[in-house]
Amino acid sequence: MNDDIDRIMAVMTAAFDPIYGEAWNRRQVEDALGFGNCHYCVLSSQGQLPADSEQGAGFFLSRTGYEEEELLLLAVCPEYRGKGLGRMLLDRLRLGASSRGARRLLLEMRRGNPAEALYTNFGFYPIGERREYYRTPSGRRLDAVTFACDIA
Ligand SMILES: CC(C)(COP(=O)(O)OP(=O)(O)OC[C@H]1O[C@@H](n2cnc3c(N)ncnc32)[C@H](O)[C@@H]1OP(=O)(O)O)[C@@H](O)C(=O)NCCC(=O)NCCS
Repeated sequence: MNDDIDRIMAVMTAAFDPIYGEAWNRRQVEDALGFGNCHYCVLSSQGQLPADSEQGAGFFLSRTGYEEEELLLLAVCPEYRGKGLGRMLLDRLRLGASSRGARRLLLEMRRGNPAEALYTNFGFYPIGERREYYRTPSGRRLDAVTFACDIA
């Protein structure tokens, strides 16, 4: 587990643009995973669970609710993007969430995040928005859009 938190933090640092302030710190990740209702998956650059000393290339973190699972974070290191790892992580999320009894996936992202193409191709559709919900470190306000994806 500690090795995986190291891998998650390495991807987190590499993947999130600091101008948006979206990256979590280690304490937030440890706390989330300590609650027992959060789940994660780390994949290597080959799209597999990393072997002992192998680094992570991408990860997701999610939270289980009643018949729903919320995607909290999804990230892939810049050098491994565009190779389908994001899609593979979503596939694993759907599989895991389904085994935990979820009937739909939820996520919230800032409007205009290029990740939207990945989400909508996967089957997510918008269900709501929160005007000026996020505040960037420089004080800019950004809208949040909530998406859902039904699990058959
Ligand atoms: C979003 C993210 C995880 C996608 O990872 P990825 O491994 O590149 O995703 P995939 O290779 O599986 O992409 C699948 C499709 O999604 C689309 N897509 C994914 N990321 C995209 C981006 N940044 N810009 C444009 N299209 C993108 C493409 O249409 C792609 O299809 P293609 O392979 O035909 O080009 C990655 O860009 C990332 O870590 N971004 C920074 C963190 C972030 O914003 N996370 C999401 C919000 S929490």
